[in-house]
Amino acid sequence: MIIFEKITKTFEEKTACALPVLKGVDMHIKRGASCVVLGRSGVGKSVLLKILLGLLPATSGEVFVDGLSVRDRAHRRAYLRYFGMLFQGGALFDSMTVLDNIVFSLMERGMPRDQATAIAHEELVAVGLGEARIEGLFPSELSGGMQKRAALARAIVLDPKILLFDEPTTGLDPITSAKITHLLRDTVQRLGVTALTITHDLVAARILADHICLLEAGRITWQGTQADFDTTDHPQMVSLIAASQGARPS
Ligand SMILES: Nc1ncnc2c1ncn2[C@@H]1O[C@H](COP(=O)(O)OP(=O)(O)OP(=O)(O)O)[C@@H](O)[C@H]1O
Ligand SMILES: [Mg+2]
Repeated sequence: MIIFEKITKTFEEKTACALPVLKGVDMHIKRGASCVVLGRSGVGKSVLLKILLGLLPATSGEVFVDGLSVRDRAHRRAYLRYFGMLFQGGALFDSMTVLDNIVFSLMERGMPRDQATAIAHEELVAVGLGEARIEGLFPSELSGGMQKRAALARAIVLDPKILLFDEPTTGLDPITSAKITHLLRDTVQRLGVTALTITHDLVAARILADHICLLEAGRITWQGTQADFDTTDHPQMVSLIAASQGARPS
């Protein structure tokens, strides 16, 4: 469903010494699979997602979604319709209520307001925000966990075939974090979509992933299933797992 082929990215334009962020990322994500890309802060996870969405051009390499190239400008709209995106910061419109954030997405596609409002309400119920009181709040009046729920409702309302989650648990306490991650997992399964999550949260990776890839120094240096994750002796994976259990990093 999603193919990254030898993706490199260097930000030449902004930095004096142009260090490559991505040095040849190869990754295949099967239709209906839930893939988690793990990696430390600053390793290039968000850059990889932006390249997938065509928000940043790769320096070299190719990205295909269902056979469509991200570089194919003629099919740009069709390409983007594949995706529902949960951004790192939520990215709801501050000046609109929770309900209107979702209604707006539907009306942009030409749906009449009444119908859009009914569907938006259904989606908010599905993510646990269906009370009238909550639907009328503005994003700044929501807790972090509620913002993630609202952003999820907006991400799924246009029936995407691929869901992208960028650090879905950042800023949440462990219990809210686990609740949100299970909601994401349930949503992916309910809709039968393909999912790509990028995170440094190993707990989230365990809940969400069929397949885990480690992004390190510009490349995928390890990949495997949940079972492989428990038995790996890959040094960076071992360090990540140890650090998540409270060990002092060397
Ligand atoms: N538009 C840009 N111009 C220049 N450099 C950039 C740009 N976007 C990202 N970078 C650089 O690319 C590197 C990777 O950034 P990225 O945001 O992908 O990290 P990340 O893995 O998502 O980190 P985090 O886990 O903290 O979100 C960083 O060094 C960053 O400074
Ligand atoms: Mg990021």
